Amino acid sequence: MNNVWLDCDPGHDDAIAILLAIHLRNINLLGVSTVHGNADAKNSAANAARCLYAFAAAHVVRVHPGASKPLLRPVRHDSEIHGADGLGGVEGLPTVADAGVHARLLPDADHLTAIEALARAVRQSWQGGRGQKVAVVACGPLTNVALFLSVYPELLEGVEQIVFMGGGIGVGNRSAAAEFNILCDPEAAQVVLDANVPKTMIPLNVTHQAIVTKAIHARLLRGTSTDADGAAPTKASTNLRHTLSTLITFFKDAYETTFRFKDGPPIHDALTVAYVSDPTLFTGKRYRVDVELHGTHTAGETVADVWGYRACDGSWGATGKNCFVALELDVPKFMDLFLDCVAECDKV
Ligand code: BDR
Ligand code: CA
Repeated sequence: MNNVWLDCDPGHDDAIAILLAIHLRNINLLGVSTVHGNADAKNSAANAARCLYAFAAAHVVRVHPGASKPLLRPVRHDSEIHGADGLGGVEGLPTVADAGVHARLLPDADHLTAIEALARAVRQSWQGGRGQKVAVVACGPLTNVALFLSVYPELLEGVEQIVFMGGGIGVGNRSAAAEFNILCDPEAAQVVLDANVPKTMIPLNVTHQAIVTKAIHARLLRGTSTDADGAAPTKASTNLRHTLSTLITFFKDAYETTFRFKDGPPIHDALTVAYVSDPTLFTGKRYRVDVELHGTHTAGETVADVWGYRACDGSWGATGKNCFVALELDVPKFMDLFLDCVAECDKV
């Protein structure tokens, strides 16, 4: 069983990461924290609570709001891709009030911030070495994770690994060189990359393989690729499937308009949770990765030393090859895993 803490900025693909974290059998989701990013911090927190509610986990998992701005840079959001509130076009989610009431009804409604709650989860799981470590999974800008590492350095030994969606090797999406999550808070990303703990980067190179094509969307609608009459399904069979279908449709349209993606949207963030659950879905390589902090045209670029220019020791931190970079995905197996989680959630 993998103890997981999920930090996110929902976000259409973050929502799918939440679904996977709840319904994958070998993931024990300890808590969710939220960060500025796709939308402002308030909407991120509300959206995470709405997703937990819709995906049947509001009674067991709490949302802990975190940083509302990057460490140094001005805050930026991405309404072009995710709508004004971060989950544009998604139908059938509960209202913020519904989801919020449920979150507050929990017995430990103690209003811990993101990093306080993550620290408590790591302490409780790790128990000074008598328990289990925690995988920290990040699907948004890395501000919360950097703050956690800076405020609680002694808890690093209770962290199994950090898996983050972000960056790209030779490819960006929100500038010619930089990917959105890293571009939002490059300094935080460098703090995380310097932490001496195993890390996996899930960059655009691999997330752009995780496309929800028409065929996958059809399976999402009813759980099968063809209806009784042999035709591809066009209508969702359950409320959950309708919600997810509207999510994919909005995301698809945004990706087509903005990035000219013709085949469907890439569900980037879902790969982080899938990686913790089944790393064999991925192949990649361990590299030294740093973030360009000063470039006029390249700020926020993740620079991977693929030719080994820099002398590195065996550590995962500031002096070593600090990151396993996922580069290839077993797409059919990943899509099966995603659709299995939808089926699991439908049973609840
Ligand atoms: C990342 O940015 C956001 O649009 C997504 O939620 C994902 O985390 C992709 O660049
Ligand atoms: Ca995200």
